[in-house]
Parts: sequence; C-alpha cells; structure tokens
Amino acid sequence: MTEKYNKIKKIYEGKAKKLYTIKGKPDLLLQEFKDDATAFNAQKRGKILNKGIINCELTTFIFDYLSKRGIKTHFVKQISPNEMIIKRLKIVPIEVVVRNIAAGSLLKKTRFKEGHKLAKPIVEFYYKDDALGDPMISDSHAIAMKIATESDLKALRQMAEKINIILKPFFLKRRLRLVDFKLEFGKDKGGKGRIMLGDEITPDTCRLWDAKTNRKLDKDRFRFDLGGVNEAYAEVRKRITGGK
Ligand code: TMP
Ligand code: ASP
Repeated sequence: MTEKYNKIKKIYEGKAKKLYTIKGKPDLLLQEFKDDATAFNAQKRGKILNKGIINCELTTFIFDYLSKRGIKTHFVKQISPNEMIIKRLKIVPIEVVVRNIAAGSLLKKTRFKEGHKLAKPIVEFYYKDDALGDPMISDSHAIAMKIATESDLKALRQMAEKINIILKPFFLKRRLRLVDFKLEFGKDKGGKGRIMLGDEITPDTCRLWDAKTNRKLDKDRFRFDLGGVNEAYAEVRKRITGGK
C-alpha cells in the first residue's frame, strides 16, 4: 500500500525550497522544490522553467546514488514530481564548498584563472548567515561560535571529499565536468544523531560544464545573464535522468 503523507504546517520557506511537517511523522519532513531562483543573497530574483521538478528529480537520483555508495543522506523517497520526504535534521549552519576547477569566488581569492585545474580539490567552509552574507570561515571560527565541534568538522570534510570522489566520474560519464559544488549537512534525532548529507545537489548548487566545450550548464547562466537558462537545466536533466 502506498503511504499517505499529509502536510501539516510549513516550517521553513527558503529561496528555492519549502519544508513542511507531516501528520503522525515527527522524524520526517516534506521538502518541496520551487521554480524560484535567486542570486547574490536574493538581490536578483527570477524563475527557471520546471526547476522545482528538475531539481527534485536530480536530487532524488543523486542522493540515491550516493547512499548506495555509503553516504548517509536525509533522503527517504520522492512522492510527487517536486516533493520528497526527508529525515528531519538539525542543520549544521556551515556551507561546505568543494572545488575541482577554479571558478566563481575562488577567482577573487587567488590568482587562478577560470578553468584552471586545481592540483588538489579545495574544501571551504562558509558560515550560513544571510545577514552576514555567508562569510568564509576557518575551523577555529566554527569551534569558537560553537556551531560545530572538531569531530563534526572532520566528518564534514571527509564526507565532502568522498562525495566529490563519487560524483566527479558520475558527472563525467554524463559528459559534465564537476567544477565545484556546495553541500549542507545535519544531524537526525533532534541534533543528537549522526552527521548526514541534507539539502540538495542540483545545477543551483553545482557548477557543471559541458565536458567537451566547457559550456556552463548551471545557475551561473542565471546569475550572470548568460541566456539559455531553462535549456541548460533541461539539458542536465536529460543527461542525468533522461527526464524520466
Ligand atoms: P562560489 O564560487 O560563488 O563561492 O560558489 C561555489 C559553489 O557553491 C558553486 O557551485 C555554487 C554554490 N553556491 C551555492 O550553492 N549557494 C550559494 O549561495 C553560493 C554563493 C554558491
Ligand atoms: N543562494 C544565493 C542567493 O542568495 C544564490 C546563489 O548564488 O547561488 O540568492
């Protein structure tokens, strides 16, 4: 029998997703993906055609792929084209960025030119705080602010590196170069459980370039008005799920 999940209350609405509690299931949440797109801390706003459906489908596919390879994630099941059931996590307020190729904000911090292949992947931590503009932080900032322990940070770094090792060939097989990406993690059991991967993995949160031409097929097309935004999302969907 297929289980029914009845939304009770919206507990969070972010720039790209909404979260609802579910009747009779306190340990789970319903995550709904929106078509809305924002950039530069929501100074730029718009919509991307079918983004909610595409990002839900891609996150489902990728989180399932990762969990089959030993990565603990919050994903439980997809219940509609743009909705999924997830474990309720207490989110660690750190955005973990992994970079394989120089692009984006790294170009402002180093002398690397866009497209430079990094000798070793870079892992960075950003403090998730819109009012501060998500500043980059070090381990000691995170520990001083008590947003994570030393062992949490070790787990974040190890999981991010492992996810990168799994996803680089995953995307390359689909003719996509994984330039960089952002991950979020949390703990289940009201923050007392183990660290697991949360949020989403989509063209909103990854830089993906065509492996042959280096054409950008991600949210940079929206951020920097490059045109062909809807087509880029549709192309990534086609290459990964076949737009099932
Ligand atoms: P950055 O080069 O602008 O620091 O971005 C690094 C990666 O993180 C890139 O793949 C896009 C992703 N990202 C987000 O998912 N959310 C954000 O708010 C920002 C700034 C970047
Ligand atoms: N999350 C960013 C925003 O604040 C968007 C981005 O650049 O990905 O709107």
